[in-house]
Amino acid sequence: MTKKKIGVLISGNGSNLQALIDACTKADYPASISVVISNKADAYGVNRAREHGIPAHIIRHEDYATRDAFDDAMQEMLLHHSVDIICLAGFMRLLSPVFVARWRGRILNIHPSLLPQFKGATAVRDALAAGVKETGCTVHLVTDEVDAGPILLQARVPMLPGDTEESLRERIHEQEHRIYPEAVKMIIPA
Ligand code: GRF
Repeated sequence: MTKKKIGVLISGNGSNLQALIDACTKADYPASISVVISNKADAYGVNRAREHGIPAHIIRHEDYATRDAFDDAMQEMLLHHSVDIICLAGFMRLLSPVFVARWRGRILNIHPSLLPQFKGATAVRDALAAGVKETGCTVHLVTDEVDAGPILLQARVPMLPGDTEESLRERIHEQEHRIYPEAVKMIIPA
């Protein structure tokens, strides 16, 4: 089996990166991670990658004059590592239409709500504030419209009495870690 090469883009803790790392250590998983890129120098996910011997690079968006220039720098790094599939895992930057077009059908994102509900950066808080009975998480293909591309997998998470943003986020994360590696498999032909 020739494994597909994943490039993971992160900005922070990288617990979803960890879930992908763990999945990729299994011999029968059809992908491996060839590079991790963080736009934040202090992202903990960089340590996670390096602990597993995965090349991890910091490409700070502040160092580039335009979004296109930043995306081009990432593109160069991804091509250098022969990446086939990009996984956004808590990557908190908008991508340019040119970049998204280059990777159409091969770039995934994970979002902490049952899309199309609660798009945007405060999805967990928004679900709690809305008083819905359940929320969850979604893995979808990335298109130009934020948090709106074709859905690959979702998992439901019920609200529990006394839930705080923290407790809810924790249970959503558990489901994210389960479905992200599964969703990656879905776009890899058997
Ligand atoms: C996750 O909740 C994901 O859905 C969202 O950002 C968070 C990243 O968490 N896009 P982590 O860095 O993977 O722990």
